[in-house]
Amino acid sequence: MKTESFKGRDFLTLLDYSREEVETILDTALDLKRRFAVDEPHDHLLRGRTLFMIFYNQSLRTRNSFEAGMTQLGGHAHFLDPGTMYAPALEGDERAYETERVSDVARVLDRMGHAIAIRVYGDPVGWVYGRAHELIRNFAYWADIPIINMECDKYHPCQALADILTVKEKFGGYEGVKFVMSWAYSPSVHKPRAVPQSAIIGATMMGMDVVLAHPEGMELDDEVLVACQGYAERYGGSFAISNDMREAFEGADVVYPKAWTAVPMLAKPVGEGDEKKAQEIFDSNKDWICDAEKMELAHKQAIYMHCLPCDRGFEAANDVIDGPQSVVFDEAENRLHVQKAVMVLTMR
Ligand code: CP
Repeated sequence: MKTESFKGRDFLTLLDYSREEVETILDTALDLKRRFAVDEPHDHLLRGRTLFMIFYNQSLRTRNSFEAGMTQLGGHAHFLDPGTMYAPALEGDERAYETERVSDVARVLDRMGHAIAIRVYGDPVGWVYGRAHELIRNFAYWADIPIINMECDKYHPCQALADILTVKEKFGGYEGVKFVMSWAYSPSVHKPRAVPQSAIIGATMMGMDVVLAHPEGMELDDEVLVACQGYAERYGGSFAISNDMREAFEGADVVYPKAWTAVPMLAKPVGEGDEKKAQEIFDSNKDWICDAEKMELAHKQAIYMHCLPCDRGFEAANDVIDGPQSVVFDEAENRLHVQKAVMVLTMR
């Protein structure tokens, strides 16, 4: 693998990167983590560089890990709120003096800085599945500088990198690790599929034994499922789907229970654009909670993961999130290190 191949590249989904390249990102992240831990200066790596961050949705971890990361690397991250600029919009979605076409925003920002990072999903794109990813791809088409996906409606690749790095740190590798990505109940149906889809992509790419568990009605994107099956065959792991949370948790090494929206919530033709129906499916599955009783089904040394924010008392019980098996804060910290690695590699 030619390390130069990272330079100037977009980071939109792990599907665009080979396993070898993903491992190089993780190695770089561990090196940057070591430097951070021993207070070894590394602010020359992106000195004078600018990252533009456009957030259509709220964030704690993503915004602060990118912003802190750029400071540590010697650069600067600008926070851009579509509510206080001309919101970047695709052709056909424009509103006079409220929005500006993505092609124009992308070509302006790429004259001024060194990368553009974008978060967009859900309401800003009317829950039209794939529209947010299309918007990010459109930025990538027009800008010559790297575009970084900070979560769209399909993928959250930075979260997936942090997830697989955390597993590597806890288990020393991936072979034979049973990784369970499970749906869990939340009172809110306004949750994209990006985290579970990217988590199962990352886990199967690394060769883990992956089980995706969810009630009927919470199915994920077929394209992602096909990709995961392909990675399982290629990299010696496995991939299975279950509609039973308890069955999935049996013998698990990693449990990752997390809400994502029901299919009817998505606009036609993927779903039905029916929030009420999505809510009904959610409400009939309130027992999909990760509690002490379900953790008993997993291995004694199993870890509990969550990307955060977690709906405490719904997705998981407090004693699980705050318990000895929880690694959620290690996982959150790893966002910083993996994103610094992505930026160093692509923005050089
Ligand atoms: N996990 C994650 O992306 O967190 P934020 O929504 O706070 O950025």
